[in-house]
Amino acid sequence: MSHINNGNPRPANLPRRVTTKTLQKMRGDGIAISMLTAYDYPTAEALDSAGVDVLLVGDSLAMVVQGHETTLPVTMDQMLYHAEMVGRAAKRSMVVVDLPFPEGQLEINRSVEASARVLKETKCHAVKLEGGAEQANRIEAIVTAGIPVMAHVGLRPQSVHVEGGYRIQRQTEQLLADAIAAEQAGAFCVLIECVPTEIGRAITDAVSVPTIGIGAGPHVSGQVLVTHDMIGFNSGYLPKFVKQFADVRDAITQAAQDYCQAIRTGQFPSKEESFE
Ligand code: KIV
Repeated sequence: MSHINNGNPRPANLPRRVTTKTLQKMRGDGIAISMLTAYDYPTAEALDSAGVDVLLVGDSLAMVVQGHETTLPVTMDQMLYHAEMVGRAAKRSMVVVDLPFPEGQLEINRSVEASARVLKETKCHAVKLEGGAEQANRIEAIVTAGIPVMAHVGLRPQSVHVEGGYRIQRQTEQLLADAIAAEQAGAFCVLIECVPTEIGRAITDAVSVPTIGIGAGPHVSGQVLVTHDMIGFNSGYLPKFVKQFADVRDAITQAAQDYCQAIRTGQFPSKEESFE
């Protein structure tokens, strides 16, 4: 079977998939890239049809879905369980899956195997790995295995205990070295978390691959947020860099209160919701 498209037109109902090449072209054309987290089928379907370019099955699921205090407890099997749903739902978006702790910290072969499981067992397209210069050999090994890697520099939530908390990252030289090393190792994109605006700009100027910021200011190729934060489906602390575009928690609470009330007052179920 040939994998070359012989110029046959694509079926009209199939959206064109976002790929690493699309993102590179978007950077070149100055078109901002949108990225959000997704952990389940209906959310991924909604975000995909809304036109979000990249979905991230982030290890943030440990915090926003599983209710843990850090991203550390989520396992590779749990990531794959969620990635499988998101990968099936996404028709246009590219889907990137986080390598959870410690899959990106132990032996390099273990990282390659974990990354291969993402492509083998889900319909997702790439992995994300925390780290820059010190992860260059690992990034290179995963890319050599045919698996696209997004590098994650700046604040690294998996290192929260080494850092003693979640802090704004200001070491310009180290951050630039991390991003450049990640690009040289073959990363198709660099995600930058929690740095001052001017460092976000400097990193973007220093690399030629797209950069995606979260708390990295506007001078990057695109933006990512945790969806639960962005839609207000979160009871905890919201970092300064989050903009809330909806209040889903309030909507759910209101709907549940209305439901309880309707049951108590005998308004539900009515004739309309009952069988003859
Ligand atoms: O896990 C995640 O959701 C992330 C984002 C914070 C970028 O890595």
